[in-house]
Amino acid sequence: MLRLTGALAGMAAAAQFTPAPAAAAPRYHDNPFTLGVASGEPLPHGVVLWTRLAPVPLAEDGLGGMPPQDVAVRWEVAEDPGMRRVVRRGTAAARRDFAHSVHVEVTGLRPGREYWYRFRTGGELSPVGRTKTAPAAGSLTPMTLAFATCQSWSDGFYTAYRHLASQDVDLVAHLGDYIYEYPVGRTSGPRGTDLSAAHNAETLTLDQYRLRYALYRTDPDLQAAHAAAPWIVTVDDHDVEDNWSDETSFSGASPEDLLRRRAAAFRAYYEHLPLRASSLPQGPDMRLHRTLDYGGLARFHVLDARQFRDPIDITRRDDPARSMLGAAQERWLLDGLADSGAVWNVLTQQVLMMQLDRLTDPGLQQLNGDAWDGYTANRNRLLDGIAERRVANPVVLTGDMHVNMAGTVKRDFTDPSSPAVAPEFVTTSITSGGNGADSGPQAEEWLAANPHLAFYNGQRGYVRCTVSPGEWRAEYLVVDKVSVPDGTVSTRRSFVVEAGRPELQEA
Ligand SMILES: [Fe+2]
Repeated sequence: MLRLTGALAGMAAAAQFTPAPAAAAPRYHDNPFTLGVASGEPLPHGVVLWTRLAPVPLAEDGLGGMPPQDVAVRWEVAEDPGMRRVVRRGTAAARRDFAHSVHVEVTGLRPGREYWYRFRTGGELSPVGRTKTAPAAGSLTPMTLAFATCQSWSDGFYTAYRHLASQDVDLVAHLGDYIYEYPVGRTSGPRGTDLSAAHNAETLTLDQYRLRYALYRTDPDLQAAHAAAPWIVTVDDHDVEDNWSDETSFSGASPEDLLRRRAAAFRAYYEHLPLRASSLPQGPDMRLHRTLDYGGLARFHVLDARQFRDPIDITRRDDPARSMLGAAQERWLLDGLADSGAVWNVLTQQVLMMQLDRLTDPGLQQLNGDAWDGYTANRNRLLDGIAERRVANPVVLTGDMHVNMAGTVKRDFTDPSSPAVAPEFVTTSITSGGNGADSGPQAEEWLAANPHLAFYNGQRGYVRCTVSPGEWRAEYLVVDKVSVPDGTVSTRRSFVVEAGRPELQEA
């Protein structure tokens, strides 16, 4: 109790401000950029810049130790990391209503090039971030993409992000479980960070979600990954609550309570990520499905497989009335696939699309009702739609599983001779589940029971893809241990897919 009281007193002292006369920003006793900087949603001529002011990042009210008024923040974008050749600058409001987060939609940039950016307020400077605009329409310049998911802070160190930040990556896609809603104990797992009791509760309110995001964003490796490249993000279940679907709670909460929780969770999600105003939540609703064109090389169809899905019910997986995406998003996706002129059409999404029978016994099947296996009628509609529209080179990127996998989405999984529709690359978690293991009984069982599954690995890490008009190369990077701060990252396996041939090939 004494320790806790002392910590709170320290926070109160640090949160005091000396407002400068006639200035729109206060004077800070501590640098307010404790949560880093980020960029996202790259277009050929613009990008979103993000930061959040929080001189006391873990203040228990979730407000970061900021004064109760809105604050002016200056931003600038330069052509060099030293910030000498500034090409755009302006002032944005860090609004108290949004926990003093800042979202700047910069325009007037040149396509397919690197920029650097930073923020300034009350005499304090942020770190410099690096970003990159999307190439001009039609450009076939190759790109490097990293994708990642599932980063339970208390399950280990973000060594995978430290590695990602050291790579020359054009774009990062995050597939959900950016936070976990579960209580974080006082010693926070292998990290051993001494935390106050406020973290040791399941997140339900806006204050609690804000505090949870702030906790995650204090991590220097996560900050480095955000500062290294623009991100595109989408939610999965733990960003709100385990296995939620639309208005249905998996834990038995009422629809009213889940919608209240969704509103709090989405608000904090928006406040902490570089999203456009088009994704600004309206109460419990947030528009996350969107397309991002990367020249003529790739169109990213970012999906939302949570907000519009019918409740999980494996016994009704073949019911054509049920949907994973909801009718409007299904139509939007098929339209976006049909009118895409891109070489690669990337489904940037959450849960496993290929069938996964978890039992080798040929007479028995065990499917996951939370994944596309629980929505087979919707999956068939999507795969039929892709075939009918002759969609060029669909590629499926998946998270959720906490293991690395690579396989092939087949038109009909019951028929071994059925054609391949798309490769599916499943990235493991960044940390969730702890160290994991390369293989084991589950790996053997799953590979034996699913001939369309080519690769399984149960370690932590992320996937780096090198994409050119001729081929999509995916490299699985794994961390030996996330339980220690100095784990080692290595390439576990790589696959290549040639344009026009959806089968996986060993790289
Ligand atoms: Fe997860």
